[in-house]
Amino acid sequence: MSIPFIDLKAQYSRLKPEIDAGIERVLAHGRFILGPEVGEFEAALAANVGAAHVVSCANGTDALTLALMGENIGPGDAVFVPSFTFTATAETVLMVGATPVFVDVDGEDFLIDCGDLESKIAALKAAGGLTPRAVIPVDLFGLPADYDGLAKIAAAHDLFLLADAAQSMGGRYRGRAVGSLAPATVSSFFPAKPLGCYGDGGALLTDDAGRAEIWRSLRGHGKGKAKYDVVRVGMNSRLDTLQAAVLLAKLPGFAAEIEARERLAEYYDRHLPGAAVRPGRMAGSTSAWAQYTIQVEDRDGLAAALREDGIPTAIHYPLPMHLQTAYRGFGDGPGSLPVSEKLAAHVLSLPMHPDMDEATSRRICAAIERHL
Ligand SMILES: Cc1ncc(COP(=O)(O)O)c(C=O)c1O
Repeated sequence: MSIPFIDLKAQYSRLKPEIDAGIERVLAHGRFILGPEVGEFEAALAANVGAAHVVSCANGTDALTLALMGENIGPGDAVFVPSFTFTATAETVLMVGATPVFVDVDGEDFLIDCGDLESKIAALKAAGGLTPRAVIPVDLFGLPADYDGLAKIAAAHDLFLLADAAQSMGGRYRGRAVGSLAPATVSSFFPAKPLGCYGDGGALLTDDAGRAEIWRSLRGHGKGKAKYDVVRVGMNSRLDTLQAAVLLAKLPGFAAEIEARERLAEYYDRHLPGAAVRPGRMAGSTSAWAQYTIQVEDRDGLAAALREDGIPTAIHYPLPMHLQTAYRGFGDGPGSLPVSEKLAAHVLSLPMHPDMDEATSRRICAAIERHL
């Protein structure tokens, strides 16, 4: 019998009364665009993570784009991004006309390597040409990046520190929740994310009222106070009211879901065979466990054997950004970011969701033990 990689059906059965009621309310009042649930969700998420302002939008990719647009980052500007990430992190840099500079990551926790970031900043300054403007650390697989270290680097070089928390909503760093760790944070509510809706959704979070006001304007075509006097060039990027209703229904149980993910991660930590390298943790941090990602020598062999056993896995990500066809021109080719390149060849994500029972996790660990 095949098991799900992420079990959204089980989650829906658990939350059906709240989700159905939320959707029915929207159908009844009919305010599908920027209806009351959108503002309610923004306020609830802000309170949940301890951010002063949440501006929702259509997806996490737009959230990144809006954040860069809000700082007027564009042609001639350099934005530092980890190479080992999902496409959107670097894509949005190019969408605003700026240049991505790829940085290597740590081989254990997959997070941006602050030492390599400093070398890349120094090299860019020495070369001249581009202006270093921003760094976008990615909380890959749910674990927050080292925001204290990154804040120091950002301050020293006058960089905008933008947290890509698409995968880490629900995670914590030194007592603080994701969403409150950087001057600006973006997240995604794609269905498979730890906090996911039933379509696309995203948000930007900040304590800075001025920044939030600009984001609100940008997500609505750059409107100012008067509806038909646009004050800046923006885009159309709104969270649907129906999606906000789904998120509102999921938020009260979200902390318990993160705890369930943590329990599953601990189970994997304890029961996987020694040949599977566990994902690194960081003292004082908790991951949102968007993914539980191991490293193994013969990754493709193990994935194929598990598939035969009805156990799905996923590869996040098979190619680092600097080696992907559309981005090669912005990197230094094979061998230039060795940790990202090695990870891409060996990582394997295992089924991870808050509704997995112990029999299933036992079955997964036993199968991996058999095949390794
Ligand atoms: C690290 C990262 N950044 C950005 C995004 C973009 O989010 P979305 O799919 O909502 O546009 C994702 C989503 O997959 C992601 O994993």
